[in-house]
This record gives sequence, C-alpha cells and structure tokens, in this order.
Amino acid sequence: MTEIEFITTFLAENAGYAREKFAARGDLTVTSKTSPTDLLTEVDLTLQHRAIEKIREHFPDDQIVAEEGEFSTFPKDPHARCWVMDPIDGTSNFVKGIFPVYAISLAFAEKGIPQVGGVCLPDMDMTFLAERDKGATMNGKPCRVSQIQTLDASRIDVDFSTLKDRQTILSRASNIITSIGQIRCHGSAVCSIIQIATGDVEAYLHMSLNPWDYAAAQLIVEESGGVATRLDNSPLELFDGREGLLITNGAIHSDVLACIK
Ligand code: IPD
Ligand code: CA
Ligand code: CA
Repeated sequence: MTEIEFITTFLAENAGYAREKFAARGDLTVTSKTSPTDLLTEVDLTLQHRAIEKIREHFPDDQIVAEEGEFSTFPKDPHARCWVMDPIDGTSNFVKGIFPVYAISLAFAEKGIPQVGGVCLPDMDMTFLAERDKGATMNGKPCRVSQIQTLDASRIDVDFSTLKDRQTILSRASNIITSIGQIRCHGSAVCSIIQIATGDVEAYLHMSLNPWDYAAAQLIVEESGGVATRLDNSPLELFDGREGLLITNGAIHSDVLACIK
C-alpha cells in the first residue's frame, strides 16, 4: 500500500465515525488539557489510536507524531520517515457545535517536509488529498489558489489561538489587520489553511502552530500553487522547532510578510 492509498483509505473509513459523534456531541466525554478551552474528547483519542494501529500494521518502521499523549513530541530522527496526525483539528468547534468546522488531518513526511497529505472535513463532505509535485484535489477535482494580487482585495485568517499568543498577534499583526480586505478566525488551523487551496481565502497567519496542525494542509496549499514560510520568509519545516508561519496564495506573500513586525 502506498502512503496516498493509506491516507485516502483511513479518511474514508473514519469520516462517518466523526460525523456520528458530532451529531451526538451532547454525549461526548470532554476534558481539558493546558487551559479550560483546550479540549479533548474520546473522538480525538479513538481516531489517533486507530491511525497508529494501522500505521504500525502497514509501515512498522515509521515514526509517528500526533497531537495526543506521548506522540506529541518531535521524532527521534527528524529526517526519517514520519507520519504526522491531528485526529481532530478544531476540537472546540466539534464539542460546541459552533460550526461543523473541524477536520481529520494526516500527513506523511520525509526530511521534515510533508510529501503526502490528506484532510477530511466530515460534516462538509470534503476530502483534500495531495502528493508532492503531483497536485492537490478536493473530492477528486484539482485545487487552485486564487490569483488575487492586492491586500485590499484579500481575505486573511488570523488565528487568534490561545491567550499565550494574543499579545504577540496584536503587536506583530496590527499592520496586516488594518490593511487587508477581510479577516476571519475559524478555530481550526487545518480548515482555515485548506481554504487557501480552494481559492476562497488568500492568507493564514499563526504565531505558534504545531506540526500536526499544518503538515497536511501546508502540502495541499503548496500543491495548489500557494506558498508556506516562517515569518522571516525562511522555509517552513515541520521539526525545526521554530514558531510562527504564513501560508498564502503566493501572489500576496511578500506584501503580507512586509506588514508583519
Ligand atoms: C487548534 C486549532 C486552532 C489553533 C490552535 C490549535 P485543536 O487545534 O487549530 O485554530 O489556533 O493553535 O491548537 O486543539 O483544535 O486540535
Ligand atoms: Ca490542532
Ligand atoms: Ca487536535
């Protein structure tokens, strides 16, 4: 089985479970992790457990990084084969039912660069898939970023994240917030980033995102013609230990970077 076949199958086999649990979210067991709004459900744990079991069955020598528990560390060898998973991105949306804006995200990386990625939005019936240098699709149709060139005609998703980042965002992002056409914040990094691949949003900004939050979505946007970098325009690598990233349609990338202090 190839990596893309594995990801495609895993997402197809597990979207229904997430959908059922979202529909019955009043019955979820919910705990909090680092803060009262950093939530964990049995769905996060079950999906991660299922993925790990399957990866170990098909790719027993590969490393695994995932958001929950002991897997939320960088791999021993950051250059070797590694799977990167966020079982549910947007857990707070999932629990509260704010929107059905949550995603399952699974990527395969080598040398700290995502090579294959898949994102499924179970309640929106959307599955995005990408392989490095082979393009990206949504439900089988090719994805393409927008051709918008100017900030006043663009939309940015500024991810306000947790309290720890709030002051940094206010000071570093104030120029872009006052220059760009529209601003969104969806509460799911994965869902926000892949909207660049569909051409509906031009940029996504976060001050401290973890690799599982962006690995698959980064590749999907890059394979749709977009660009992903650190905030100093250096390459975005999963395990470089650095914080802050900007993902855009490419056309406005340098203009957004120039606004960030
Ligand atoms: C969170 C979301 C959110 C981002 C946080 C992430 P989770 O992931 O992607 O948009 O701001 O930094 O931790 O906890 O819902 O998987
Ligand atoms: Ca996440
Ligand atoms: Ca998560």
